[in-house]
Amino acid sequence: MNLELNPNLFALVYLIATIFFIFGLKGLSSPKTALRGNGFAMLGMGLAIGATLLNPEVRSYTWILAGLAAGAVIGIPLALKIQMTSMPELVAALHSFVGLSAVFVAFGTYFKHLAHGEAMDGVLMSELAVGSFIGAITFTGSVVAFGKLKGSFGSNPVTFPGQHLLNLVMALGMIGFTADFVMHDRVESFYALTALAFVLGVTLVIPIGGADMPVVVSMLNSYSGWAASATGFTLQNNLLITTGALVGSSGAILSYIMCKAMNRSFFSVILGGFGGEASAASPMAAAAGKGVKSAAVEDAAFVLGNSTKVIIVPGYGMAVAQAQHAVKELWQALVEKGVDVTFATHPVAGRMPGHMNVLLAESEIPYDVVQELEEINPDFASTDAVLIIGANDVVNPAAKTDKSSPLYGMPILDAYKAKQVFLMKRSLKAGYAGVDNALYYYDNCALVFGDAKAACESLTAALHEA
Ligand code: TAP
Repeated sequence: MNLELNPNLFALVYLIATIFFIFGLKGLSSPKTALRGNGFAMLGMGLAIGATLLNPEVRSYTWILAGLAAGAVIGIPLALKIQMTSMPELVAALHSFVGLSAVFVAFGTYFKHLAHGEAMDGVLMSELAVGSFIGAITFTGSVVAFGKLKGSFGSNPVTFPGQHLLNLVMALGMIGFTADFVMHDRVESFYALTALAFVLGVTLVIPIGGADMPVVVSMLNSYSGWAASATGFTLQNNLLITTGALVGSSGAILSYIMCKAMNRSFFSVILGGFGGEASAASPMAAAAGKGVKSAAVEDAAFVLGNSTKVIIVPGYGMAVAQAQHAVKELWQALVEKGVDVTFATHPVAGRMPGHMNVLLAESEIPYDVVQELEEINPDFASTDAVLIIGANDVVNPAAKTDKSSPLYGMPILDAYKAKQVFLMKRSLKAGYAGVDNALYYYDNCALVFGDAKAACESLTAALHEA
């Protein structure tokens, strides 16, 4: 079959790929169907790449192969090495590549037209400008987010007087330069709008920090989708337009859902300045003075084993300790003792959306004993004991009671309402938002100090011995 004679065939393959991507996204909406969703998305991507490579417009494979080889050499070891807890950093880094490539495509297309003496109409010029500025914001915003998540720049918000005004002036300047570029074809304006966008990417992300970083990552995910979509318009590639729009809109919806989960205003987070002001980790001595109680593993095992109803709240510490399999054994030991055990997951527990659900699924804990925040919160008050494994911010009652706390307003798992709470962690250090946990000082709370994996294994052993 001569593919050159069948442009409609490409359109059809692209359409099928888009449908697979939609099935993929649908599948990812629940842990039960996530694997299938990934399968669909991979199938769609395979079709998309295959059709693109066979497209007659591709005249030489040299650069494509070189790009694939370079990407594979960097990407494969990175993906194999990456820890689950570092996923958001990796995602932020990958978004930055999408942003930068949108800038390169915009400039490449502009200079290609100039070199060939081809006229550019207003629509194409607008596409180039939009592609370049969304790409540039995505690039520097993602680099800053990567640094904040990795801890290289510190995760605290960076604010200064007149920050919002500066952002507004830059945004208006960018619009002005865009208009000038489109109307007068002035390349200096193209450079200027891109340079402003690079700076805006930094100034939009630096004021966000602490507990609001997840929203920023999903927002940058959305920007990278729109950047890809703009590139699709420039390259007249329908698949890139639709795929970019899918990523852009699903990222925006995810950001909105996460803002709702954290009781944040979507626009306030995007405009910056809502993040947590991190206080120093609370030193053990100061906390001891405030009357923090601790419990030995054996005491916790005794109470948990003699409870009728127990809720386990996993958090970032479970991920760090890779304790999910030890947690499953602990769950089995409790179930064998006739205890009714449920897992409670918070939408931003850990470091990526659905992090806890992924880990619990990995250790094959059945989905029907895992419940989300809204579903489980009414149950805490009638629960004998809650075991918190490496979670901190997501169970901090200051989010409800302390208006000065950066966490204030974020819905939490109401663990403090249970008869007894065991909070398992290594020290009295703060969680991601950098704030002290009010729960430490509750009468019904006792800390079980230790690494989550080792402590869970000891708890299981103590339950078996009892
Ligand atoms: P955090 O508040 O970050 O607290 C985790 C706790 O785990 C720490 O206080 C730490 O205390 C403990 N820990 C660390 N390693 C441990 C280990 N090996 N064994 C036992 N404990 C260990 O976690 P969270 O409650 O899951 O809340 C998540 C936070 O991250 C929220 O503020 C959220 O906004 C933010 N965040 C979330 C995401 C997404 S999308 N989920 C992305 C970025 C940021 P010790 O050091 O004392 O052990």
